[in-house]
Amino acid sequence: MDIMKTIYGRRSVRQYTDKQIDKDVLDKLLDAAIWAPNGGNRNPWRFIVVTSEAQKKLLLKFTPGVFDMPSAMVVICTESKQKSINENKRMIHMADAAIAAENIVLTAYSMGIGSCMVVSFADIAIRKILNLPDQLSLKILVTLGYPDESPEPPPRKPITEIAFENTYGNRWSS
Ligand SMILES: Cc1cc2nc3c(=O)[nH]c(=O)nc-3n(C[C@H](O)[C@H](O)[C@H](O)COP(=O)(O)O)c2cc1C
Repeated sequence: MDIMKTIYGRRSVRQYTDKQIDKDVLDKLLDAAIWAPNGGNRNPWRFIVVTSEAQKKLLLKFTPGVFDMPSAMVVICTESKQKSINENKRMIHMADAAIAAENIVLTAYSMGIGSCMVVSFADIAIRKILNLPDQLSLKILVTLGYPDESPEPPPRKPITEIAFENTYGNRWSS
């Protein structure tokens, strides 16, 4: 699929059918994720793919940002050897996780699968459910499933309002 078509067409999908996503498809989505740019090519991601009904039900109890049972949830974490990392590294890891998530949602859309990124979750509870060790930092959840809705695109601010040429204040003209 053409990249701009994919970017324009993808929507956050929050209602899913009962159809399950095959494992080989989930595998492709993970492969798309690991080919994302990442700081220093350190590959800090750790992905927990949750497909078991029992685990999903538990996760849903602690993710107010999820509104329907997805077929799968990819929990994106990053790993650091040191217990406390500085703000710069934290920011890089957040960017790494977000870009991997974007690769997942765009690839999912190109394969007819709906998705939604979620950061509204109870960190401590999710860590417990997934048995996350201390060195993993929980960043983003991605819900995945075959769409049971086709949301209208929420509006974006015009580029001319939020982009500037050479210096801030000198508005970009399209
Ligand atoms: C970092 C991040 C966190 C988000 N968290 C949630 C969430 O907790 N629950 C939810 O329903 N949508 C969540 N979303 C989806 C946004 O609401 C959605 O991307 C936005 O409304 C634009 O709609 P679109 O994705 O269809 O273009 C999140 C998106 C991002 C990028």
